[in-house]
Amino acid sequence: MELQDLYREVILDHNKRPRNFGRLDPHDALANGHNPLCGDRLTITLNLDGQRIDDVKFEGNGCAISVASASMMTEAIKGKERSEVNALFDKVHALLTQQDAPADDLGKLAALSGVREFPARVKCASLCWHTLNAALADADNASPISTE
Ligand code: FES
Repeated sequence: MELQDLYREVILDHNKRPRNFGRLDPHDALANGHNPLCGDRLTITLNLDGQRIDDVKFEGNGCAISVASASMMTEAIKGKERSEVNALFDKVHALLTQQDAPADDLGKLAALSGVREFPARVKCASLCWHTLNAALADADNASPISTE
């Protein structure tokens, strides 16, 4: 099977059966994301255990790319430290915007590499990541600053 076909299958699978779909209640943080180009929205809720993402869910309506990207993102970040999540975000951002960005250690997220050929779709794929960053900022605002 061609790599591009494999990537397409991964995206179709995550769109059809999104992982971690729904809303955590209670949650430590929540953020709503919005793609102004199409009007699609998604909501991310998450719970933190210190600096670790203990659990995360997303919900909303969007195109196949946005749903698949959010589904794969939640799988990839659950259980990770925030520093690891930030590093992953940088890699995914590079994957989506730079032609020669490496996809080696991105696992399933590499399936999004085809998106960079279509600038409008980059917004679809990155919507969940920007929403995640907003949710983490929400968590920082909600909890007192710790100096530990
Ligand atoms: Fe709306 Fe992709 S078309 S997020």
